[in-house]
Amino acid sequence: MNKSASTDGFAAALSQAGQRIDSIIGEEPIDAYSQHAEWSDLAEPLPTTGVGIEATLKELHERVAPYGTNQSDPGFLGWITSGPTVAPVIAATTASVLSPQKYGLTAFNFLEELSLEWLAELCSLDSGMKGVYSTGGSVANLVALGAARQFAFTNAGLDPSAVGVDGRPVAVYTSTEAHHTIARSAAVLGLGRRSIRSVAIDERQRMIPAALEDMIAKDIASGVLPIAIAAAAGTTNTGAIDPLREIGTIASKHGIWFHVDGAYGLVGSLDERVTDRYDGLKLADSAIVDPHKWLGAPVGVAATFVRDRALLFDTFTQEPADYLEGSLAADGTAQSTFEAMGTPYSEFGVELSSPPRGVQVWAILKELGIEGVRHRVKTDNDFARRATRFAAEHPKLEPLTEPELSIATFRYLAPGIDDLDAFNHELMLRARRTSRYTVSSTVVNGVFGIRPCFINVRTKTEHVDEFMNHLVATGDEMLEA
Ligand SMILES: Cc1ncc(COP(=O)(O)O)c(C=O)c1O
Repeated sequence: MNKSASTDGFAAALSQAGQRIDSIIGEEPIDAYSQHAEWSDLAEPLPTTGVGIEATLKELHERVAPYGTNQSDPGFLGWITSGPTVAPVIAATTASVLSPQKYGLTAFNFLEELSLEWLAELCSLDSGMKGVYSTGGSVANLVALGAARQFAFTNAGLDPSAVGVDGRPVAVYTSTEAHHTIARSAAVLGLGRRSIRSVAIDERQRMIPAALEDMIAKDIASGVLPIAIAAAAGTTNTGAIDPLREIGTIASKHGIWFHVDGAYGLVGSLDERVTDRYDGLKLADSAIVDPHKWLGAPVGVAATFVRDRALLFDTFTQEPADYLEGSLAADGTAQSTFEAMGTPYSEFGVELSSPPRGVQVWAILKELGIEGVRHRVKTDNDFARRATRFAAEHPKLEPLTEPELSIATFRYLAPGIDDLDAFNHELMLRARRTSRYTVSSTVVNGVFGIRPCFINVRTKTEHVDEFMNHLVATGDEMLEA
């Protein structure tokens, strides 16, 4: 029997999917890999004739849906991702059907710019910063550093996006704690990974401005072209916030592009207890933030902000294409949706086809408002402080950092065990295998640390306590064994 793809019936299918998702989130999570026998036999030859939508969705709900990651479970505290909330998922799903591209004059695309403005305001960026969405912090950093490259080379008399970089020595300054996507961006932009200067950090894991100054002075003296200083507002490892004012001032003094990677932590400034640590953010020439981290958007949305999108245009323009420009209103006076592209986001980044992502951010901010987001951020910061206090007060635990934001780091002190790093690594794995709590790790000052990151909107205080007690109990069992 030949089947054609289903083109309507969203209501029933979405309602069924919603019920399935709710029921899976509501259950104690199962580990997908430990159940892989249940899903590995999804492997079958490519169907010649399809089974139709009902059978397909049944298989999706029964044999695929239960075996995902447990990132929407309250016990997921790993890395910097968690399951999304309802509003942005529904917004994204609606957009994917009703306005699949972020081009053309539609309400969805109107929200693209509005939500970028809201996001810039939420994060207290300098007024006038303009944005563009992309898929995540990796691309958002790439886009920002593309603008930095354009700025630095143009000032040195060469248009790098037109003629390419010319092999002269260049430098991108960032701390030893920077996310690796800074180095990857340097590689992709033709600057080379070796252009990365890893500036030393202080005892709070923050870039040391004097060390930065030193490196810049040496580079300039030896003819190296500085491209950018990339500071972090919330490092991935510990949530440290670099001293933005001092770094920004050094950048201005030397005329170097100042980038702030706030993929995770930019919204952290909403917590009044740490707002002062963001002093100097307004000096940034570019900044990024990922709504798919702390704002609870589904994975696939980040924003890059710059003062001047013309620089992004110069860097990323794809040049006019007959099949696109030819179908627009000739004199720029559009009278219907497809007679104009709208804001030319495709010229400001690396994507042409892409969904309107702003509608997700709009939905989050509309639902929560500034105060709702602030409440989330403060609750999560409190969780990190609570876990750290627990570790400080427990005789068998040792905090490794004092949290700036919502990341805690600590380790189990096992008496008589020489290799505490190996012990804590094993503890992390066992604690994960034997509970709903998925935690990841990091290294702080050369020491292996267990690292819960609290950005999961479903996590409650009782989960934090249960997680900490479970870790201790697991460590105790390991010692007794
Ligand atoms: C500070 C920082 N920058 C960039 C990234 C990369 O973001 P993404 O994973 O969304 O590409 C991360 C990811 O955790 C991050 O923490």
